[in-house]
Amino acid sequence: MKIDKIVFATGNEGKMREIRMIMEDLGPELLSMKQAGVDVDIVEDGETFEENAMIKASAIAQALREDGVQAVVLADDSGLEVDYLNKEPGVYSARYMGEDTSYTVKNANLIQRLEGVPDEERTARFVCVIAAVFPDGRKFATRAAIEGRIGYEERGQNGFGYDPIFYLPEYGKYSAELDPEEKNRISHRGKALEEMKKVLRQESL
Ligand code: IMP
Repeated sequence: MKIDKIVFATGNEGKMREIRMIMEDLGPELLSMKQAGVDVDIVEDGETFEENAMIKASAIAQALREDGVQAVVLADDSGLEVDYLNKEPGVYSARYMGEDTSYTVKNANLIQRLEGVPDEERTARFVCVIAAVFPDGRKFATRAAIEGRIGYEERGQNGFGYDPIFYLPEYGKYSAELDPEEKNRISHRGKALEEMKKVLRQESL
């Protein structure tokens, strides 16, 4: 089946830039939800990253089908898992302490909850799942993670969200201290997108 369009289920321009950089040599035209003219209210009520990514991709695929558009729909879901906190905030990363609470407050709260916890028990990871829904209903998902530790203070000016408290022992830097190209190359989202690219190639895109 020849597909000439991929729609990525996000309203986030930063994510769109990243997916363009990684997927541009694949062939099909890459469109954001807005460019594809779909606007659907999606309730992300899954309990896993896979469920939430699939909920988003399926909802957009349904809307496109109703408009008669043939496209592969991709969606992502991601978050931070802190081992000492039983993998919190996990799928609730964006909603942790409330969607409108600043990350300065969220980050300070996580550091405070880990007060007195030694380095080796501060392990954490960013996880990303990319889901794909084909026009004929086939579904795929890829997952990737980047391992690190929760630091003791915020550091770095780049990135977003929990990047300033996420220390990468392998690189001797906080995630917010990486430049964007470097982060794309090693990040959970970059790696999950690369895996999805392989799946799309295998499925003859
Ligand atoms: P999503 O857009 O629903 O996947 O939200 C994921 C949430 O997880 C974000 O709002 C951030 O709080 C957190 N998160 C995911 N990836 C990253 C990252 O690369 N850096 C910092 N925080 C992240």
